[in-house]
Amino acid sequence: MTRKEFLQALGLLGAGTVFIGPELLAKNSPLLSPDSKDFNDKDGRYRHPIKGLKADTNGKALTCIVIGAGNRGRMYVRYAEMFPDCLKIVGVSDILESRKNATGDRYNIPEDMRFGHYREVFECGKKLADLVIISTPDDCHYVPCMKALSLGYDVLLEKPVAQTEKECTDIAKQARKYGRIVGVCHVLRYAPYFVALRDAARSGMIGDIVSIQHQEPIQYAHMAHSYVRGNWRDSKETTPIILAKSCHDLDILRWIIGKPCKRITADGSLYLFKPENAPAGAPSHCADGCPIEATCPYSALDIYVKRKAHLGVFDLKNNRDEAEIYEKLTTTHKSYGRCVYHCDNDQPDHYVCNMVFEDDVTASFTMDAFAPKGGRRTKVMGTTGYIEGDGKTFTIYDFRSNKKLVWDAKVAELEEYKDSGHGGGDYALFRDFLEAVAYQDENKLTSSIEASIESHVMGFRAEKSRLSMKKVKVN
Ligand SMILES: NC(=O)c1ccc[n+]([C@@H]2O[C@H](COP(=O)([O-])OP(=O)(O)OC[C@H]3O[C@@H](n4cnc5c(N)ncnc54)[C@H](O)[C@@H]3O)[C@@H](O)[C@H]2O)c1
Repeated sequence: MTRKEFLQALGLLGAGTVFIGPELLAKNSPLLSPDSKDFNDKDGRYRHPIKGLKADTNGKALTCIVIGAGNRGRMYVRYAEMFPDCLKIVGVSDILESRKNATGDRYNIPEDMRFGHYREVFECGKKLADLVIISTPDDCHYVPCMKALSLGYDVLLEKPVAQTEKECTDIAKQARKYGRIVGVCHVLRYAPYFVALRDAARSGMIGDIVSIQHQEPIQYAHMAHSYVRGNWRDSKETTPIILAKSCHDLDILRWIIGKPCKRITADGSLYLFKPENAPAGAPSHCADGCPIEATCPYSALDIYVKRKAHLGVFDLKNNRDEAEIYEKLTTTHKSYGRCVYHCDNDQPDHYVCNMVFEDDVTASFTMDAFAPKGGRRTKVMGTTGYIEGDGKTFTIYDFRSNKKLVWDAKVAELEEYKDSGHGGGDYALFRDFLEAVAYQDENKLTSSIEASIESHVMGFRAEKSRLSMKKVKVN
């Protein structure tokens, strides 16, 4: 949309009915009608299409092996239940028997297609499905991805792509060498909120983008669960938090700005979750008679047993059963019962980055662990206007007229989107990936493997800057 059309839409140039954004929805999925109240520009709403989640797979169900049937892997394969004519799960790999068989049973996968370690998937030396999903832990992305590409699989690869810049570039080279598609799970790019925000920012409605402020608050219990007690607590075993948590954000910034990042400076540290901050008398585990358990916001008993948050890691028989949660916390999953001041963690709990992009466009990013709730917040400063969003809704302001438009589509209320995490981005990404595979056209994804790696490089260089206390060149 041009600025002229924007002004028309605000009623400032005297046009009749003017629609903000494309009027028509994707033809395969009319989820929101242009007549619905959500798309009514007359009450100051910004109209933008929301595509349905059913992929156009060229008339066939693509076959898929999921490697890593944990939280993310299980979520992606459920797409086959929503749209069985688009996707069939024909194989599973997980080192945990229980997870392998839970997915195996759910999708009627024969014994010979149930694998333990990912190595077993590739042992036969030939391709057994159209695509693989790699949703293993961060340190298990590189090897299976390289191998899968060499055997001719297209790959849906969880982020972060790999643990080093070199491994990331190797994967891109391997994809080109074998002519395969790698879809990186930068799911926010596919979330209707970010799709609409980016289109608004780049449409000319706010003039040229000059600067962006972007914030990622991490809910305090989420921080304790994932980055203090849990899987991503050790930056060396996984990746530094700027990639493990925030590669999405760097990617979003690069994608909205549409220009390469030239240099980056970063700072941040681990302020709270370390032994010297442990309250007097705090034992190694919350359930061992901690004197401040009743008031500590990070108490494992409060987070898991009482509030029943972040239970996915426990593989519970009954999600609501407090006795079962307590039992797991104190036996098989004791690491989640640890005192947050007595863990083997090193990830910073606050992190700031400043970036300069081509044409001197600037961006600042902050990630902080001390927030009551998550949800990205973004301010885009343009030469004639401004956009401010809170992860659910955003407002576009026009300076001269002092008028505004609001995007506030209720994505989670759309039946197809109700189980699609990351603001709908999870399955929207998967839809586009399946279309890319079906038509062997990576342009159906909003980013190539090279583009995904470019924003990963920003993360690696940010960490270099944080550790060296120097400004670091990116491009
Ligand atoms: N895109 C996103 O927004 C997003 C969100 C969360 C996590 N992730 C990423 O997704 C990946 C998976 O995260 P998760 O939360 O699902 O973790 P998870 O621990 O729930 O699942 C990983 C699974 O991989 C299995 N596994 C480990 N080693 C294996 C091996 N050698 N062979 C086969 N299976 C193996 C584990 O047993 C586990 O079931 C991680 O890289 C994580 O960083 C991405």
